[in-house]
Amino acid sequence: MNFWILLSLTLHHTCSVPIGYIAFASLVSTNSSQPTTMNGTGEECVCIMLFSSNLFAINSFFNNTCQLFSNANIASTTFTLVIDPNSRVFYRDEAIFYDDGEEYTTNTPEMTTTVPCALVNPPLMGTTIFGLENGTSGSSLSTLKAPWGITVNSDDSLLIGDNTNNRVLYVAPNATTGQKVAPSSGSLYARRAYFDSSYLNLYVVDCDRCQMTRYFNGSLTKTIVFSPSCGTNLTQTGKSASFVIDSNGSFYVADNVNHRIMLWPVNATVGIILAGETNISGNDTQHFRNPQDIVLDELAGVYYVADTNNHRILRFFMNSSDGTVVAGGNGAGTASNQLYSPCGLYFSKKNNTFYIADTSNHRIVRWCLGCSEGVTVAGSCNGASGTSAYQLAAPTTVTMDKTESYLYVADRGNNRIQRFDIN
Ligand SMILES: *[C@@H]1O[C@H](CO)[C@@H](O)[C@H](O)[C@H]1NC(C)=O
Ligand SMILES: *[C@@H]1O[C@H](CO)[C@@H](O)[C@H](O)[C@H]1NC(C)=O
Ligand SMILES: *[C@@H]1O[C@H](CO)[C@@H](O)[C@H](O)[C@H]1NC(C)=O
Ligand SMILES: *[C@@H]1O[C@H](CO)[C@@H](O)[C@H](O)[C@H]1NC(C)=O
Ligand SMILES: *[C@@H]1O[C@H](CO)[C@@H](O)[C@H](O)[C@H]1NC(C)=O
Ligand SMILES: *[C@@H]1O[C@H](CO)[C@@H](O)[C@H](O)[C@H]1NC(C)=O
Ligand SMILES: *[C@@H]1O[C@H](CO)[C@@H](O)[C@H](O)[C@H]1NC(C)=O
Ligand SMILES: *[C@@H]1O[C@H](CO)[C@@H](O)[C@H](O)[C@H]1NC(C)=O
Ligand SMILES: *[C@@H]1O[C@H](CO)[C@@H](O)[C@H](O)[C@H]1NC(C)=O
Ligand SMILES: *[C@@H]1O[C@H](CO)[C@@H](O)[C@H](O)[C@H]1NC(C)=O
Ligand SMILES: *[C@@H]1O[C@H](CO)[C@@H](O)[C@H](O)[C@H]1NC(C)=O
Ligand SMILES: *[C@@H]1O[C@H](CO)[C@@H](O)[C@H](O)[C@H]1NC(C)=O
Repeated sequence: MNFWILLSLTLHHTCSVPIGYIAFASLVSTNSSQPTTMNGTGEECVCIMLFSSNLFAINSFFNNTCQLFSNANIASTTFTLVIDPNSRVFYRDEAIFYDDGEEYTTNTPEMTTTVPCALVNPPLMGTTIFGLENGTSGSSLSTLKAPWGITVNSDDSLLIGDNTNNRVLYVAPNATTGQKVAPSSGSLYARRAYFDSSYLNLYVVDCDRCQMTRYFNGSLTKTIVFSPSCGTNLTQTGKSASFVIDSNGSFYVADNVNHRIMLWPVNATVGIILAGETNISGNDTQHFRNPQDIVLDELAGVYYVADTNNHRILRFFMNSSDGTVVAGGNGAGTASNQLYSPCGLYFSKKNNTFYIADTSNHRIVRWCLGCSEGVTVAGSCNGASGTSAYQLAAPTTVTMDKTESYLYVADRGNNRIQRFDIN
């Protein structure tokens, strides 16, 4: 019976043979007064990620953190385990479990420098505010297919870049049915859409045609604003670009495949490269590898970039093309000082705190400016995806309402928009 789905990620597990074997959930007590006692008498094997459809992740040791132990820490330890009626796992004693049935070849256990993944406790439960809770896709006006971007307008209405349905949906506050606001016909590979301050102009980048398009006052007919074709020169963007508008109406474009950030001043037909080098990727602070999101802090004169395939967030002063790593940058992984292909970014100016759509880890990470590690606020620490209320699947965008009471997540792999109450 293959009850467990086992994930062993990039944490450096230095194991010999598994100890204590949690075979089936049915063998674990659900009564906290009668915890199940597990063996911990073998050699160490730690940070094996366990989860199943019935259990909250067991990748935690102390206080919901994932830590690596040397042999000495856990040899001959007995520990107990209880599953509560809501199917979350609690621990007793300071020990571990594992499992996995697989053999590990190294027997040179060591402490590592990987930082434990910290998780908010208890986990936040999301509410599906648009799309189907069970993750099923659809193309009606109340379902989604691989939504990429979400914008929360000041009145709490939404714009959803319903990517694979080739449309942008407008959703009135609390509505469960949307209205198609772009395009009139044909495909529109939309990641993100924004209204300008008048709410009359809707801007969208058509990621297949590499065009910035404008839809005026509810018209479904597009006007091309700039970049009439895909390419690498200064009048063009590559495919899958994303953007943000500043208070003056200028566009800051994360030009994904060209590995560069561009500024298109108001009414400009030629862009300016702010950072990166066209078609040259790299992992130093002057280069990107597929940057996919950008946010502005105009007062501070900086912008932040989700440098997706370098697994990090970079900060740039407006007048400098040399950035600073402010989150991640420690390789791909699930540890709290790591990210794994983050595609989306929100920056809370109230708090100087980032919320990061850590896409390939299927989680949202909160990371304060100046911190060397983050906290998982939605999803789990084990790199697993799922459709449960606390889970996500390849989230691509995270944003907040104007009061910053709620996190909104484009839960792309689950074809739904989730909202988390963070207060
Ligand atoms: C849990 O265990 C305690 C102590 O053994 C027992 O008194 C109680 O009835 C059990 N509760 C349930 C729901 O089985
Ligand atoms: C440890 O596990 C083994 C195999 O399941 C079992 O035979 C043994 O009794 C256990 N020891 C303790 C102390 O629970
Ligand atoms: C777990 O959390 C409690 C309360 O916050 C704290 O007292 C304890 O030291 C923590 N244990 C570990 C191993 O971090
Ligand atoms: C998901 O939910 C919808 C609406 O309740 C339902 O029609 C559909 O069959 C469900 N899909 C699955 C796979 O359960
Ligand atoms: C939306 O629902 C929330 C409660 O879920 C309520 O407080 C709010 O007033 C509603 N907004 C509108 C515009 O109906
Ligand atoms: C926008 O459209 C509405 C209704 O279609 C119309 O009443 C209004 O005059 C239009 N505004 C502008 C500035 O065109
Ligand atoms: C950019 O490339 C397009 C298409 O090849 C060309 O029409 C345009 O003149 C080029 N612009 C510049 C500034 O090189
Ligand atoms: C917006 O325009 C004003 C006036 O031209 C200028 O001072 C300011 O720097 C601009 N802001 C940005 C973010 O470009
Ligand atoms: C941009 O173009 C529009 C329409 O041509 C014009 O009304 C506006 O003044 C221009 N803005 C700037 C900053 O040049
Ligand atoms: C971009 O770089 C790749 C790999 O170096 C190269 O094959 C390709 O021709 C370049 N594209 C352009 C438009 O320069
Ligand atoms: C950056 O790239 C170089 C060369 O490919 C590699 O040796 C180095 O480990 C990378 N650094 C990080 C932090 O990924
Ligand atoms: C500010 O950020 C910290 C973490 O960096 C968080 O714990 C706290 O809840 C935040 N406060 C508000 C008001 O959002």
